[in-house]
Amino acid sequence: MRTLTAGEYRLAGSARIVAPRGLRWDRRGMAHTDLDWNSMADRLTTEGEALLPFVTAAAQDIAARVTPRRILDVGAGPGVAACVLAQRFPDAEVVAVDGSAELLRRAGERADRIGVRLTTRVAEFPGDFAELPEADLIWTSHVLHHVGDQAAAVAALAKRLRRGGVLAVAEGGLPTRFLPRDIGFGRPGIESRIDAATTIWFARMRAELPHAATVVEDWPAMLSAAGLAGAGSRSFLVDRPAPLAPEYRGFVRGQFERAAEALADDLDADDRATLGRLTGEGPGTVDTRPDVYLLTARTVHTATRP
Ligand SMILES: C[S@@+](CC[C@H](N)C(=O)[O-])C[C@H]1O[C@@H](n2cnc3c(N)ncnc32)[C@H](O)[C@@H]1O
Repeated sequence: MRTLTAGEYRLAGSARIVAPRGLRWDRRGMAHTDLDWNSMADRLTTEGEALLPFVTAAAQDIAARVTPRRILDVGAGPGVAACVLAQRFPDAEVVAVDGSAELLRRAGERADRIGVRLTTRVAEFPGDFAELPEADLIWTSHVLHHVGDQAAAVAALAKRLRRGGVLAVAEGGLPTRFLPRDIGFGRPGIESRIDAATTIWFARMRAELPHAATVVEDWPAMLSAAGLAGAGSRSFLVDRPAPLAPEYRGFVRGQFERAAEALADDLDADDRATLGRLTGEGPGTVDTRPDVYLLTARTVHTATRP
């Protein structure tokens, strides 16, 4: 995802061009940087499946603190984590909540396929937070950074907790790594430069959100300020060593394709060429390289309603 260049912005009124993938035109033909979540359904699914160990481990951790009767997965997307929660807490009513009806349709299909109980609910964030049903566990993973006022979002979700309920916010962790520093072509260290460019993209994305507010991204502090107790963080490792199993290679390809597309203006020609080779055809692509792995950590911040 990237901010449109001035030229693209001017052209946005013209029917001759199509919105770059992940961007969309509004009714006036103006482009904006709202993410088109529906178009990311496959990517969100492969990502969720590749990173699934962190959800399983976090759910195990949470199970020691609460026996939920109702769970909300806020921003559930295609439902990978919601299904993990439904498996871990089979007696709970699990509600997948998202702004995208299409992603929720996928979540429902997934639950049927796996054989777990899941209901879905379309909601717009943060406006509909106050309408959500009360719950004993609210899980929200990599969603609140898409809401302009993150502290207010935490406070609104905290209000939906029953006494003794847990709010679990998955945000941050470590950058994901897939490749050795030197991959045999291009300048060594491309992943560090992708991280730096992503940081710039992320700041632009946040600045353009409605009611964007800057806040120190100290999630336990935000949980405490929302009146919750025992705020703390735990990070969970996802370690899939090389050679990465074929079923996770689609996630790697998707990440590099997204970087090539979204960060084109922020990476130099050498790095763009390297991304082209990694995601192209022939030797050296992420589909066949024996040195591709997946290593990352995801952080889950939790607190309880007293
Ligand atoms: C990055 S995805 C995270 C999906 C999933 N929780 C995970 O960790 O893989 C963000 C999700 O939040 C939803 N979302 C983002 N902003 C939203 C908003 N303002 N209102 C409703 N849903 C939103 C998107 O549809 C998408 O499914």
